[in-house]
Amino acid sequence: MTQILSAAPVRKKITKDLKSECVYLKENGVVPYLKVLLVGNNPSSVIYTNSKKKYCEKIGAKCDIISLNENVHAKQFLDIIENINNDSDVHGCIIQLPLPPHLAHLDIGKLVSSQKDIDGFHPENLYALMSNRDLENHFISCTPKGIVSLLTEYGFQIAGKKVTIIGRSMIVGKPLACLFTNLDATVTLCHSKTHDLHEISKSCDILVSAVGIPNLIDESFLSDKKNQIVIDVGMNSDSSGNLCGDVDFEKVKDLVYAITPVPGGVGPMTIISLMQNLLQASKKRLSL
Ligand code: GUN
Repeated sequence: MTQILSAAPVRKKITKDLKSECVYLKENGVVPYLKVLLVGNNPSSVIYTNSKKKYCEKIGAKCDIISLNENVHAKQFLDIIENINNDSDVHGCIIQLPLPPHLAHLDIGKLVSSQKDIDGFHPENLYALMSNRDLENHFISCTPKGIVSLLTEYGFQIAGKKVTIIGRSMIVGKPLACLFTNLDATVTLCHSKTHDLHEISKSCDILVSAVGIPNLIDESFLSDKKNQIVIDVGMNSDSSGNLCGDVDFEKVKDLVYAITPVPGGVGPMTIISLMQNLLQASKKRLSL
C-alpha cells in the first residue's frame, strides 16, 4: 500500500512546538513579526501570502502583508524594503515572487538584509547552505527545508540515497540539491535540456518534481519496482482551473512506495519552514 506523505500530522506536531516557542519569546519581550511584500494581485501569490499570514497568526506571531500596486515604482519598492530592514520590531521579511516584469531586473536576493531574509535567498544564507557551515545562524530556503523535514518526520533516511530533482530554480531545485548533498544523498539536478530524463528518473530512490507543468510525471518516469518516493512541488492550475501538481497522482499513486499529495504535501511544509525561520530570527533578539 502506497504511503501518502501528508503534511497534516507533521504540521500538528511542529505547530505545537512553534506555539510554545512563541509564548516563550513573548514572555521575554520579543513578539515575532513578519512582513510580506506583495506586488500586484497574482491569484496564486495572493493565496500563498494569505496562508502565510494565517499560519503566522495561528502560532501567535505577527504578520503584515504590504500590498503594492502592480505598477509600483522601483524606488518606492526599494524604500519600503529599506524601512523594513531598519525597523528593529520586524524579524523577518519576504518578497513574494514572482515580481512584475518592470521589477525583474532587481537583484532580489540582496534586498532584504541577511538577518531578516527568512526565505534564505540572500548570498550569505546561500553561501552557508553551499558550504554546509554555520547553518544555525543562517536561513535555509523554505521549500527545500520543508521537503527534508517531511521526509525526516516520516522516518526516511536520506544519506546514501539517489535523488533526482527536476527543475533548477533558485527557490527550489538548486538549494534543494545543496541540502540533499549536505545530507549525503547523491543528487542529479535535471532541467529542460537534460538528456535521458526518463532514465535518470527511473533509476533514483527519491524523485522531486519542481517544474510547474501540470501532471507531467506519469508512469513513464518511474521504475517498475514500486520502490520510489515521489515529492511533488508543483502548484499548478489544470485546464479547468483546479489546483494540481506536477505529478499525475492518479496514474502514479499505485506505482510508488510513497508520494506527497497536492494540496496538503509540500505546500504546508514550506509555510512551516518559513515560521521556523521567523522564530530562529526572533530568538536572536532575546537579551540573554
Ligand atoms: N513564490 C513561490 N514560492 C515562494 C517562496 O518560497 N518565497 C517567496 N518569496 N516567493 C515565492
